Amino acid sequence: MIGRLNHVAIAVPDLAAAVATYRDVLGAEVSQPVDQPEHGVRVVFVTLPNTKIEFLEPLGSGSPVAKFLERNEAGGIHHICYEVDDILAARDTLLAQGARVLGDGEPKIGAHGKPVLFLHPKDFLGTLIELEQA
Ligand code: CO
Repeated sequence: MIGRLNHVAIAVPDLAAAVATYRDVLGAEVSQPVDQPEHGVRVVFVTLPNTKIEFLEPLGSGSPVAKFLERNEAGGIHHICYEVDDILAARDTLLAQGARVLGDGEPKIGAHGKPVLFLHPKDFLGTLIELEQA
């Protein structure tokens, strides 16, 4: 069901410092920050030849990333995103197998303008999984 790795998202306490590390130390191509208030995050995209890395900084109160950073002060991997051909079919297949879809189960528009869903980390090896419509 899952296809390509679309991105790995890293929660960061300081977006500018994260950008400097990846751009200046690792020599990566990084985007300008993009605010996504509906997801409670400010995002920077790191473009690699075969995938993307996304830095997530909390935006506004009640950001889901803020809670993560309380437990991981230096930042850390927050989720990984896999592409699926048909997000509704993928959701229904997963639900039928007992997997938990976060929120109301309806896809939201994600960072790349495509529908996304999140799967409960306890069902997937302790890792929060995002599915994105390819
Ligand atoms: Co993501």
